[in-house]
Amino acid sequence: MYDLSERLAVQGGPLAKRTPFPARKRHGEAEKRLLDEVIDSDILFFFSGTKVHAFQRRFAEMMGLKHCIACASGTAAVHMAVATLELPPGSEVVTSAITDMGTLTGILYQGLVPVFADVDPQTLNMDPAAVERVITGRTRAIVAVHHAGLAVDMDRLLELAGRHHLPVIEDCAQAYGCQYHGRDVGTMGMISAFSLNHFKHITCGSGGMVATNDDRLRYLASIFLDKCYQREEKIRNPFFLAPNYQMTELQGAVALVQLERIAEVTSRRNQLGRRLDEHLRNTPGVGPQSTPPGCRHSYFLYLFKLDLDRLRVSAREFSAALAAEGVPNEAEQITGGRPVYLYDIFQKRSAFPGSHYPFLCADTKTDKHYRQGDCPVAEDAFRRWIMLNVYEHYTETDIDEIAFGIGKVARHFLRGGG
Ligand SMILES: Cc1ncc(COP(=O)(O)O)c(C=O)c1O
Repeated sequence: MYDLSERLAVQGGPLAKRTPFPARKRHGEAEKRLLDEVIDSDILFFFSGTKVHAFQRRFAEMMGLKHCIACASGTAAVHMAVATLELPPGSEVVTSAITDMGTLTGILYQGLVPVFADVDPQTLNMDPAAVERVITGRTRAIVAVHHAGLAVDMDRLLELAGRHHLPVIEDCAQAYGCQYHGRDVGTMGMISAFSLNHFKHITCGSGGMVATNDDRLRYLASIFLDKCYQREEKIRNPFFLAPNYQMTELQGAVALVQLERIAEVTSRRNQLGRRLDEHLRNTPGVGPQSTPPGCRHSYFLYLFKLDLDRLRVSAREFSAALAAEGVPNEAEQITGGRPVYLYDIFQKRSAFPGSHYPFLCADTKTDKHYRQGDCPVAEDAFRRWIMLNVYEHYTETDIDEIAFGIGKVARHFLRGGG
């Protein structure tokens, strides 16, 4: 049935994806019930309502952490986490060269200077050795991004962070259900951030969560999301600059239900992702992302690598041929579409209109530039990795047909024939 020598679909052959993907339904009666309760209660404001509080309690219970603070987005969550560290403007914060802009927004708003560490060529996660190389006397924190559903090498990262006395924030936006040597991501750093945007394992449209065991960080996060109003003490006297990043009761209601789906969604993706990995380990010309021993991948994204020495094709051409086989995928579109420091905001140093702050600042004695070539592994990754989704509602047949499509295209482009 799966004949790899079959003509490619782009050449008029049959599609490798023989059967349609099943329909996906992520929300249902349970969400409707809680949304009804919110509307009936007539309270949509988190502080006076019950759903956001319940969401926070349940999330903390599931993580085995003391505190969770819900907010409007993953971007807000990272911003809150960064803000709780109370770093002076001009401090350097090291993070991954491959991540979403949401990791950077809060760093920049706090007047901090992002410094990018290159990634490991096998996992595309921030490489602790590269982190160590970019630490300077001005480094004050590290934001570890668990990319695509795979944990950063936390033992090595925490060891070096300890040696340099640097707090670690975990950006877990892409990493629900992802474990590192038996520990859940989000429980290893000082404070962590999650996202519930539309694309994540669980979603309430837009939403975020900060998690920590630290009482003071919990307090700072809870007032940072609320204009620095101290609602718990009934005090309205802001003592630092803070946005409004509140989560509404409507988001909280949906998020509360979605939480209960994490285990099911991530274990199914893990099962399907490993099945596809197994196929690709046996497919000449391509290879799966490597999952280091002791790590549990939750396949927020499914990434595989082209062996460009063996294939006479660019990632873009490969991607188009695979799409024609009925397998949606993207080339040059790992998270962010390019290493983040190649975005205009860093290249032009244009975070705030009419100024180069915080990249250039006399007060903080900063003059930071970001250049092509800063993180060569990350830059190269966008030329050789392909990204697709392995959703929890896919069947084993879907995975086998995806693997067949990849195998068919790879065989076609193998140097010297397949
Ligand atoms: C690693 C990472 N951090 C932060 C964010 C920001 O999350 P949100 O889109 O909810 O603001 C994202 C979102 O894609 C992300 O992938």
